[in-house]
Amino acid sequence: MEENISLKELHTFGLNVQTAQYTLVETEAQVQKLLPLPAAHLILGGGSNMLFTKDFEGLVVHNKIRGIELVEEDEKTVLIRVGGGEVWHLLVVWCIEQGYAGLENLSLIPGSVGAAPIQNIGAYGVELKDVFDRLEAINLSTGKVETLNFEACAFGYRDSIFKRKAKGKYLITRVFLRLSKEATFNISYGAIQQVLEASQTPLSIRSISNAVIKIRTQKLPDPKKIGNSGSFFKNPIVENTVVALLQKKYPSMPVYPIGNDKSKLAAGWLIDQLGWKGYRKGDAGVHEQQALVLVNYGNAKGSEIWALAQEIQASVQEKFGILLEPEVNILA
Ligand code: EPU
Repeated sequence: MEENISLKELHTFGLNVQTAQYTLVETEAQVQKLLPLPAAHLILGGGSNMLFTKDFEGLVVHNKIRGIELVEEDEKTVLIRVGGGEVWHLLVVWCIEQGYAGLENLSLIPGSVGAAPIQNIGAYGVELKDVFDRLEAINLSTGKVETLNFEACAFGYRDSIFKRKAKGKYLITRVFLRLSKEATFNISYGAIQQVLEASQTPLSIRSISNAVIKIRTQKLPDPKKIGNSGSFFKNPIVENTVVALLQKKYPSMPVYPIGNDKSKLAAGWLIDQLGWKGYRKGDAGVHEQQALVLVNYGNAKGSEIWALAQEIQASVQEKFGILLEPEVNILA
């Protein structure tokens, strides 16, 4: 257990904040020994989806449970069991090396494996739920290891049981993923196809991964260079009656239909229309290439980034009548 530790290097916004107490855990038994946790506690993975608006006056438990194992194999698939503390992208790289398909579209997403199911990470037409089998998590009230299957996790768009009913209840120790030995490629997302064609490499999980890495590095700031948490807001899901009215006014607005009644709109486009892209106030700003990404140019305070986010939220609400919901966890 350490005291008054800086969190600057432990989260991707790179803010100058501290935690009162810090400990890392590498095994299930170490987690169980810490129970009961103090009321003010935070389970930390890669820190890629959180905004600290001030110092954290509690205990940070850093999940460093490692290990990637093959647990089942049949003709067409493998089942792997991965420690929650593994780095997501290193898992993707490992899978590509083994020839296991399924994660290539999710290349370069910052963060840890244990955090991936919490918000059902997704990119370029694939979500974690598409390869998810089950997970093991320690129930922080009982100390028991529980298994949660696909249904129990109640995955949705950037959503799961861990953001709702089970919020704060568990520490995710192991994630089981079902991957394919015979790749079926998902290149439906426009930009992937263009990049693949331009690179003239044959279609493979490696070439898809390279294309995704190329697109991400062009559009999204590298957290090692400019602090950020990826998309700050979720893309809003809106009734089609509302979408139709907006489309009349804004014919070029991107719309992604979901079933018959609703559609997803591009929060980045809405924010961009209001001229926020490239905006900067002090060291808090809106990324120059992607209006959905808020950035810390060096010494911004979390409270300044949150104030900027709220200004953006209010302006989108005023112009389009849509309330953007943060994707990032705000620690107020
Ligand atoms: N757009 C603009 N201006 C902008 C940003 C976007 O006009 O400043 C337009 C784009 O031209 C495009 C549309 O908005 O027509 C959507 O943009 P993009 O394809 O860049 O994706 P996104 O909706 O902004 C989502 C995810 C990303 C994920 C990409 C690719 C969310 C909240 N974000 O972004 O995920 O990488 O799609 O699949 O769902 C993350 O969650 O942190 C994240 C980076």
